[in-house]
Parts: sequence; structure tokens; C-alpha cells
Amino acid sequence: MSHTLRPPAPGTVIAVDGTSGSGKSSTSRGVARRLGLRYLDTGAMFRAMTWWLLREGVDVHDPAEVAARCGEPTIASGTDPEAPTITVDGTDVGVEIRSDAVNAAVSPVSAVPEVRSRLLDLQRSVIGRETRTGGIVVEGRDIGSVVVPDAPVKVYLSADPEARAVRRAAEAGGADLAATQESLLARDRIDSGRATAPLVMADGAVHIDTTPYSLDEVIDLVVELAEQAQARA
Ligand code: DC
Repeated sequence: MSHTLRPPAPGTVIAVDGTSGSGKSSTSRGVARRLGLRYLDTGAMFRAMTWWLLREGVDVHDPAEVAARCGEPTIASGTDPEAPTITVDGTDVGVEIRSDAVNAAVSPVSAVPEVRSRLLDLQRSVIGRETRTGGIVVEGRDIGSVVVPDAPVKVYLSADPEARAVRRAAEAGGADLAATQESLLARDRIDSGRATAPLVMADGAVHIDTTPYSLDEVIDLVVELAEQAQARA
């Protein structure tokens, strides 16, 4: 296992954490577009790892087997907020990583410390590269707490379970609402309860409950926070 890189120096990093379906991806991409920043979806990295493990026939509920194999695939993220990409060994898996099979397996895979350590190195190397030339919006579960604890802007997004299920079901082309809500809540339980880098509100994070707001309003709020941080710097 490679060693863990030091956190990047705090350039323009906006850390966006929160639960599944809280509006993290749309908000993060919108903020990146508005401010001319790059965008990193760390959830897509965990999903890509999970997709590869499933394809290899690895038992995703066996942490030792997952740990033994997670160093093998080469995962790469494209950071253009207009068209983010994710590849595994050079193959684009942007569609495959949103399947029900990956949804069901990604939380147990993400709880394995060796998986987190490997992807942490990868995340920090992307963030380090992008902050040398500009800045980046990074979304996930542990960005403000573990990946970039010195980020000058940290937000934690949440929303009522019903609102989150409606958003996710609409994204999935009208999937069953009750099943979507149950799948979201099941992932929340594992993501918040795991021992390594659980989903928490990071020190210094601003909590935005997105339930009553439109996407544009949430983007406005985060852009405002970024402008305030800039003015303080
Ligand atoms: O954001 P998402 O729903 O695509 O994330 C998929 C899973 O990946 C999520 O259930 C937990 C995991 N994840 C994580 O553990 N840490 C992150 N920084 C991002 C995602």
C-alpha cells in the first residue's frame, strides 16, 4: 500500500460533504461552473472501485478479500465540471457505476480502510494538481474532515429523506420512491456508522438543509460562502 500524501496546501478548495441525494453533485458542479473551478466527484471513485470488484467476482462483503484486491485497478477522474469522467483501466464506466448492483455494494466497499487509503492518495494527488493551477470543488463524505481538513470553504448538505428520494428517483427516470428512499437510508446508516472516515459534519463546516431551496438558491449560498472566504483571506 502506498503511503498517504500530505493534505494539499489550502488553495481554492471547496469541500462539499453530505448524505446521498442531498444535492451534492448538482450543487458542486454548479458552483465549479460559476467560479471557473475544476470538480472532483469522490463518490464516483468509490463506485468505480466497487464496479471493478464486482466484475472480478470479489465478495464485496469480505473486507479481507476487498483489501487484497483494491490495489489492482487504475482509476482516473476527469475534472471538467461540464463533463466529468471516470475510467477504470482506461474504460469509461460513467454509466455502469450508477447501476443497482453498485448502489447496493458501494457502502460496504467504502468501509474497508485499504480502499479508503488507496483512494485518499488518488484524491489528494488530483486536488494537489488542480490547486497548483487554480481551484477545485470536491464532493464526498469525508472531504472536510479527512481529505482536505484545511479547505477554506466547507459545506455539509442535508435534506429530508422524502425530498432526497424524489430527486434520486427522478434522476433514475422515475424509479420506485419507497425502494429509492430505503436504499438511500441504508447507505446513510453504513456511511455514518463505519469506523474509518465516517460521514460527519466537519469542524468549520456550514450546514445547509437543502429541502426548501431550489438548486440555484443552494449554488448561490455556496458561492456567497466562497466569496466571504476569499474576502477574509
Ligand atoms: O456520492 P455517492 O452516492 O456517489 O457515493 C457513493 C458511496 O461512496 C457512498 O455511499 C459512500 C462512498 N463515499 C465515501 O465513503 N466517501 C466519499 N468521500 C465519497 C463517497
